[in-house]
Amino acid sequence: MKKIDITEIGGNPVELIGKQWMLITAGTPEAFNCMTASWGGIGFLWNRPVAFVFVRPNRHTVQFIESQPAFTLSFMPEQHRQDLVYCGRHSGRDVDKMAHTSLKPAVTPAGLPTFEDAGLVLECRRMFRTTLQKADFLDWSEVSPAWYAEDNPLHYLYICEITGALTQ
Ligand SMILES: Cc1cc2nc3c(=O)[nH]c(=O)nc-3n(C[C@H](O)[C@H](O)[C@H](O)COP(=O)(O)O)c2cc1C
Repeated sequence: MKKIDITEIGGNPVELIGKQWMLITAGTPEAFNCMTASWGGIGFLWNRPVAFVFVRPNRHTVQFIESQPAFTLSFMPEQHRQDLVYCGRHSGRDVDKMAHTSLKPAVTPAGLPTFEDAGLVLECRRMFRTTLQKADFLDWSEVSPAWYAEDNPLHYLYICEITGALTQ
């Protein structure tokens, strides 16, 4: 993979994240977990490029995100769609995702876990985490039935500095 400037990444972020989806991969190259995510964004904050993701606290991936200062967002080509479906439907608590998918682990220049074949990898340094609060929603009744019914916990929001971008 080759390093590119973050300003050179092509594509529409809504399409990239919302339709192509991404793998949040966290931990170390020796011990990591990944999960599929389609909620988040790429932008500019605190005078630096940032990525932000929304992760429910009960995801197994959270303990890996919490264990290291940085993680990756990997955007996989269409041939890995079924792998992303698998990683979005099964928990690393119960299964070995690497044994059940065609994903091949790789390591970024910063030593972070990612995957061979990724069309784009963002190295993300955690800067901020908060838990969404019901009281802060301006349209709770519109959002809650679909996303926070029953005991579905509200998401963590992580805001990260994008410290590196890699492409094929
Ligand atoms: C297309 C798709 C998008 C998803 N997006 C998110 C997301 O943005 N945030 C989240 O917390 N879970 C999301 N999920 C659910 C997690 O990927 C899923 O719960 C996964 O099994 C968690 O794995 P883990 O327990 O190994 O961390 C998504 C699932 C799919 C299929």
